Parts: sequence; structure tokens; C-alpha cells
Amino acid sequence: MVPLIDLKIQHKSIASEVEAAIKNVCENTAFILSDEMKAFEAEFATYCGAKHGVGVANGTEALFLALLALGIKQGDEVIVPANTFIATAAAVSHAGGVPVFVDVDPESYCIDAAGISKAVTSKTKAIMAVHLYGHPADMDPIMDVARANGLKVIEDCAQAHGTHYKGKQVGSIGDASGVSFYPSKTLGAYGDAGMVLTNSDETAEQLKLLRDNGRTSWYEHSIIGYNSRLDGIQSAVLRVKLKYLDKWVEARRAHAKKYQELLGDLAGLALAVEKPYARHSYYVYVVRADNRDGVMAQLKEKGCGCGIHYPVPLHLQPAYAFLGGKKGDHPVSEAYAQRIISIPMFPELTEDQVSEAAGIIRQVISGQ
Ligand SMILES: Cc1ncc(COP(=O)(O)O)c(C=O)c1O
Repeated sequence: MVPLIDLKIQHKSIASEVEAAIKNVCENTAFILSDEMKAFEAEFATYCGAKHGVGVANGTEALFLALLALGIKQGDEVIVPANTFIATAAAVSHAGGVPVFVDVDPESYCIDAAGISKAVTSKTKAIMAVHLYGHPADMDPIMDVARANGLKVIEDCAQAHGTHYKGKQVGSIGDASGVSFYPSKTLGAYGDAGMVLTNSDETAEQLKLLRDNGRTSWYEHSIIGYNSRLDGIQSAVLRVKLKYLDKWVEARRAHAKKYQELLGDLAGLALAVEKPYARHSYYVYVVRADNRDGVMAQLKEKGCGCGIHYPVPLHLQPAYAFLGGKKGDHPVSEAYAQRIISIPMFPELTEDQVSEAAGIIRQVISGQ
């Protein structure tokens, strides 16, 4: 059996380092807004080429607080891709904004820059560019539309640790970026964790107030904020793991290359594409096939783990029915939601496992 993902192997490989780091936090009782957190903020921001990193409780709140810090208010429209995890849009809703869905590029699965300009209205205030599956959104045209219309840009980097756009790590191109360190992410914590990246001193200061009850000193509060802090134990774990991130991304890329070699000629299967401007980090490896549900049932039966990211585009989710989205609004996202399959992808996969998974996929697709 080749699993879709296995976090235990990675833990085993770094267990002694992680346990020592956690023990250190416990012995220092440095749990909240600790030196570990500040060190991780600085290290991860540097890794991403951003001036500031502000640690928060999770990726959803990273996006939500980024929107607030950038001034998104009740009724403001924020452009969001139709194909992404619901947290991207939920963050907009929590900030009082209205997500306006735009279809995705058929090769990169990321928001279609040309579609964004058509969705801009007098109420539009921002664009959420999601670097989905580890592939970067095409940021240059997105920034052009934003500049032409006076819009803020938030990068959703939840799936993009180690992703490059035109030779540069993503996360410092827009006005602010939200990062998730959910355990299964390419850089995953041992619980929930998140960060906002920004190059703006002012936005970083606002975020520090927002995440800590608006606190300017212990009993002084300049704004009504939230409690959304990155804890010391997660920071310590993430500091250990950050040292291995490049190695893990390289391993993912090697597996992707192998899938390409082994399955590139297979009719009836569309593999992941890396656009010329992209360095894909393959957080998930997504393929497309007809008869998706039948194919997935056979893959599982024959021992190839698989999943779907994501089966329902956001404009058709019950949670967003009130916005009046309907079938046909975003044809690429809708067609892909019926055809996409995520296949085994995590750094510790062996070459034999990649070959085994590819063999099963070939057998199942050829029999369609
Ligand atoms: C694209 C995307 N945005 C936002 C999030 C939210 O992150 P979190 O689960 O840490 O709140 C996730 C991950 O779960 C995600 O994949």
C-alpha cells in the first residue's frame, strides 16, 4: 500500500531534535509570545524574503488578520479563486467582506489573472491570490490589475512553503501573505500554527496589536483585538523543521519528476504542470482523469492512496449559497472538481513506492 501521505516517517527522522526543542520550551515555561516565537518569525520571514513575520494561531486567522490589517471592512468585495480550500473565502467573510469568486487557470489551477479584471467593481478592495497545491499564482499580472484599480493583494501561502515565482520565494510579493503550518503542510507544526508575512512596518505593527488583544502594554489596549498568537512549543518545532524544508521540497520535486517520467505518455491522465515562471513545491500532486470516482475506488483497492483537493468549488458550497453562485459560473473549477485526484506525495516516499503508485495508476487508467 502506498499512502497518500504519512507524517510518522518524518517525525521519526527528527524525533530527538523535536523532543529536545519541546523540552527546552517546557523547562523555560516560554509558551506565549516567547523568544522561540520571535526567532521563528524572523527565520521564516527571512526564508521567504519578507521584512516581517507575525506569528498567529493558524492559517485561517493569518488571512483574516491580514485582511483586517489592510483595512478590509464590512461590505468590501475581495476576489478569491473558486478552486481553493474554504478558509481562503471564510477569512474574507470573517472580516465582513464579500468573496467574489473567479475561475482558475486550466494548467496551474491558480486564479486566472484575466478573470480578475472582469470581476472588479467599485466595491472591490482586495485580491486573494492562492498558490494552490504548491504552484504559484501568476503574480505579475495580478499585481498589475491590483495597481490599476488600487487594490490590496494578499497571498495565501498555506500550500506554498518552498514555492518560487520567477526565481523568488512567494510570500513577499503582495501587501501581506497568510501562511498555515497545519501539520500536513510542507512545513507543518505539531498542532495549529500560522504566520502573516509583510514588508510594511505599519501592517506588521497593526498585526501585532490584532493578534494580542490590541495590547500596547500589559494592561493597555489601543484597539479591540483578538487572541491569535503562535505558541512557543509550535515555534520551537517549526524552527527545527525549517532547517529541513529545502531538502523536503527537493524530495517532493524528485517524486514529481518521476511521476512525469513514468506516466507522461499515458493517454487519459493529465499530470501536474509547472509553468515557466514557477518552481512548484508539490504540496499535493494533482492529476485529472475521467470517471474519477471509479478510478479512485480502483486505486484504493489496488493499494494506491488518493484524495480530492477539492470536490466542490466554493461558489457551489452550501456555506456560500447565499451569494447566489450557480453551476456554469466557473466552468474550469467545476469541470476539474469532477476529475481531480491527489496521488501519493510526501518527501519520505521511496523511489520504489513512487514506481509502485505509478504502476497502479497506469493499470487503472489503461483499463478505463
Ligand atoms: C489554501 C489554504 N488556505 C488557508 C488554509 C487555512 O489554514 P489553517 O488550517 O492553518 O487554518 C489552508 C489549510 O488548511 C489552505 O490549504
